[in-house]
Amino acid sequence: MSVNKEFKKVSTQTFQDMKRNGEKIAMLTCYDYSIAKLVDSAGIDAILVGDSAANVMAGYETTLPITVDEMIYYAASVVRAAKRAMVVVDMPFGSYQGDAKAAVHNAVRIMKETGAQAVKIEGGIEIEDSFKAILSAGIPIMGHLGLTPQSINKFGGYGLRAKEDAEAQLLLENAKLLEKLGCFSVVLEKIPANLAKQVTDSLTVPTIGIGAGNVCDGQVLVLQDMLGINEGFKPKFLRTYANLAEYIRGAVSNYVSDVKSLDFPNENEQY
Ligand code: KIV
Repeated sequence: MSVNKEFKKVSTQTFQDMKRNGEKIAMLTCYDYSIAKLVDSAGIDAILVGDSAANVMAGYETTLPITVDEMIYYAASVVRAAKRAMVVVDMPFGSYQGDAKAAVHNAVRIMKETGAQAVKIEGGIEIEDSFKAILSAGIPIMGHLGLTPQSINKFGGYGLRAKEDAEAQLLLENAKLLEKLGCFSVVLEKIPANLAKQVTDSLTVPTIGIGAGNVCDGQVLVLQDMLGINEGFKPKFLRTYANLAEYIRGAVSNYVSDVKSLDFPNENEQY
């Protein structure tokens, strides 16, 4: 259980070792340099530059509008900060579906222009050719099954996935396919915990859960959600570790009063 203790860059091999040794993988999303520095120094194993940046950084309702260029900007900022954590970058909607050549072109751009260690893509057998093309370029892929937010218009909502046997069976088959193709890990989002256990037990590569119970080999959360910045978002699977919304609002409101009352800056805070 010692693979995570030394100060060595986390790699796909570390992920494999952690699964084998039973050490859970802790992953969070992050999109900027300053926060990534804090997250990295707090001992996170992997940082996901998620396309959830579309929601939490840019205020879009879905993840669909974010572009490859925007993901590269966020990811390069995070990579400059991450000394130990592995950085995984989401390929955005439209950058890998349907055209394997475009998929590898976009994945290569992300790797070249950010310095990240891996990309993440949503889906299974329907995008098998894109998986193959990206993997053949030597780019590690983290898969993503279950609730895949880029398919929100197909699903019609963000509810629990794979409740029914047919969808659960397909998910299990897709997970096995991703491992066979060479993905180094698979995110399982918002699926029943017993299905996540079945998938986790069937794979030799680690599963990373979000709303998928504690049997997964690791966990991921959106940073703004777990820090309590994203007020009003309180799904059952989320644990909030801070109430930064209240804290930040309090600090800003104190600053506003200090400026207005001429308390700031005082004599010691001027030249
Ligand atoms: O974009 C994202 O933040 C994600 C996680 C929720 C897994 O894909």
